[in-house]
Amino acid sequence: MFIIRRFKMEDLPRVMQLVEAVFRERYDVPMYTNLFQSWPDGFQVVESDGRVVAFILGMVSAPRRARVLLLGVDPPWWNQGLGTQLMWNFMRAAAALPADVVSLELRMSNQRALAFYYRLGFTVTGMIPSYYKDGESANVMERPLR
Ligand SMILES: CC(C)(COP(=O)(O)OP(=O)(O)OC[C@H]1O[C@@H](n2cnc3c(N)ncnc32)[C@H](O)[C@@H]1OP(=O)(O)O)[C@@H](O)C(=O)NCCC(=O)NCCS
Repeated sequence: MFIIRRFKMEDLPRVMQLVEAVFRERYDVPMYTNLFQSWPDGFQVVESDGRVVAFILGMVSAPRRARVLLLGVDPPWWNQGLGTQLMWNFMRAAAALPADVVSLELRMSNQRALAFYYRLGFTVTGMIPSYYKDGESANVMERPLR
């Protein structure tokens, strides 16, 4: 059984482990704690049998705009609808802020995530050259909330 709930500080080591496994990235602890404190409902996890298996982390990027920074599902748990549920939860929380738009960036090469976000009603609204540390460019995607 899965539970979606707000992130708690004791989840942080496991979330950081997932970020490394899924994105091959490492961010420092204050990055997570500052974002969590600035918008607690923008940081949600999925728990299965007491273990965090997926998470979403976002921020309020401008007045009435929310942005997804990281969405990760542990690979053995892919294709079970967890990413979709986290995104719907996030969009509900963003609408309650209230925000009018959710935006996100993803690697140009990330075809799976592109298809995933298209299915959720996002469209590509821009491109940021050399957005990632390794030089890869990003697609910018957005979805209106109302
Ligand atoms: C992109 C990502 C978040 C998707 O997560 P996910 O939990 O696998 O997504 P979902 O299961 O909700 O949807 C994905 C697929 O499962 C299918 N699906 C959705 N609900 C389902 C269910 N209940 N049972 C079976 N399949 C289901 C969807 O139709 C979709 O199918 P397709 O992609 O094969 O056409 C995940 O692959 C991931 O963590 N990727 C690495 C990190 C990343 O790229 N993040 C996004 C950029 S920030």
